Amino acid sequence: MKTTRLRHYLSACTLAMMASATLQPAFAKDGQAILNAKCMACHTPEGNDALSRISHQRKTPEGWLMSIARMQLMYGLKISDEDRRSVVKFLADKQGLAPSETEGVRYAMERRLNTVEKIDEPLNQMCSRCHSGARFELQRRPLKEWERLVDFHLGRWPSLEYQSLSRDRDWYGLAHKEVAPLLAKNYPLESSAWSEWQKNKPKAEVLPGQWSFSGHMLAKGDVHGVMTVTQDAGDTFKVQVKGQYADGTPFNGEGSAILYNGYEWRASLQLGDVRMRQVFAALNGEMKGRMFETEHDERGLDFSAVKNDNAKLLAVQPAFIKAGSEAELTLVGSGLSGTPDLGAGVEILKVLENTPQKLRVKVKAAADAVPGARSVVLGSLKGVDLVVYKDIDQVKVVPEYSIARVGENGGATPKVQGRFEAEAWGKGADGQPYRIGYLPAKWTVEPFDEQAKEDEDVKFAGDMQPDGVFVPGGAGPNPQRKMMTNNVGNLKVIAQLEDGGMKGEGQLIVTVQRWNNPPLP
Ligand code: HEC
Ligand code: HEC
Repeated sequence: MKTTRLRHYLSACTLAMMASATLQPAFAKDGQAILNAKCMACHTPEGNDALSRISHQRKTPEGWLMSIARMQLMYGLKISDEDRRSVVKFLADKQGLAPSETEGVRYAMERRLNTVEKIDEPLNQMCSRCHSGARFELQRRPLKEWERLVDFHLGRWPSLEYQSLSRDRDWYGLAHKEVAPLLAKNYPLESSAWSEWQKNKPKAEVLPGQWSFSGHMLAKGDVHGVMTVTQDAGDTFKVQVKGQYADGTPFNGEGSAILYNGYEWRASLQLGDVRMRQVFAALNGEMKGRMFETEHDERGLDFSAVKNDNAKLLAVQPAFIKAGSEAELTLVGSGLSGTPDLGAGVEILKVLENTPQKLRVKVKAAADAVPGARSVVLGSLKGVDLVVYKDIDQVKVVPEYSIARVGENGGATPKVQGRFEAEAWGKGADGQPYRIGYLPAKWTVEPFDEQAKEDEDVKFAGDMQPDGVFVPGGAGPNPQRKMMTNNVGNLKVIAQLEDGGMKGEGQLIVTVQRWNNPPLP
């Protein structure tokens, strides 16, 4: 009972929500004082404000939140939300990860839950069959602490040893002899990256200002606009976004943010009737990451932003044009001025709009313009490509493999949708494939295999909408299905390009709800 309640509570209580509940002044109480008052009952003081276990680990804000929530869940730690916010902030700042230590693993914080991880053995089989590999890749500890983590697992879940990928070996022995030393070597407590970062961490004062942003949401399209950041108390901010999607839908809203450890930006914003979170790395005048709906984290944008005092080309939307056609292109960035040079064969017909953050132009690509990627040049700014294409050589469904989940139907868990786009590829004169971009397509699903056909998965698992959004079926047993099973399925996702009719295929597994949905998968 208690477990279920706390799990619900934990999944709802994210760092971004912490951001929305900004206090005046934020984090008034000293983190160390709260640690001493709340944790010392079980964690031994070691002098110099250090506490056993706690002082020998580094992790992300989400990692700290999960550890402390676990103390509440498992050991009856009593702590108010306000105090927990202060402790997470304090520990994430003091014992966090350097930017280079989160590189390549940010997908877990960004809640890209369709990510297929590549974890080397033996860590893959030993440590990432119950949760993501990112859980440990986003932590740093000395050998002793990795060993204690192993002991905690077995002590807490003794049946672990009888499970698949465990009963076929001496799990505990291997975990101590091989895995813990490997973890200590790959993910050590001390690193030069961390000591450098602590010395050179930027201050929150570098963030206020105007940020030009560009993003893309699958099955929705490109978005761009301006984000205004104003500083509140300490490392908290007010945030406002003003922009629009390529189809004209407005993208306007506001909220608040917290900066952890000099670069971990977490915000919560209200856009119309939708609540969204931002999980970004804010570094060197740029922000990069993912912005997603709080209730539907599968509905998210790849997001990047650049600050107004940092002249830069961020994106061109769309980033492709067909040879022999005319199109409107929008260059997004900051400090933009002048007329862009789009390379031989792509002529600027007219400049439609010109602000430092946005340059909209009407262009024409000659029928004989050389197909492939070319650099967009605007004065001294570069770094963004425009693709000219002629023939489409291949279509890929993005994502190629993904998971949707049944939900609702009287239950509290929302459905998790599938979202797809058709990525067109061309072939250059050199025979090398080049990516064109996402093109409009017609969407259908078919049974993935014989079993799926026999079980009529297409009929029960959900509906593919014309825009490439798959809405899964309702939760619970279905009396109309064989053996009253629920509406799960294994589907082939087929995209057929509107232009030319070429097809591409992907796979979608429709499965059951995620009951345990902590901040880090
Ligand atoms: C009622 C006892 C109790 C209190 C109070 C408590 N802890 Fe713990 N904590 C434990 C125990 C037991 C363990 C070791 C087993 C485990 O990891 O679950 C532990 C382990 C930990 C770990 C190591 C987890 C890991 O992954 O290795 C961290 C971090 C931690 N506690 C943080 C805190 C913080 C921060 C507080 C105060 C806000 C706190 N604890 C308060 C009992 C407690
Ligand atoms: C049998 C399933 C299982 C296996 C195998 C497993 N874990 Fe876990 N792990 C868990 C569970 C359950 C939790 C607690 C989860 C929670 O709070 O959501 C956890 C928590 C964790 C945490 C977070 C602890 C904290 O408080 O910071 C880390 C890190 C971790 N595991 C790493 C590992 C490593 C490393 C291995 C391999 C040695 C491993 N896990 C193997 C199930 C497993």
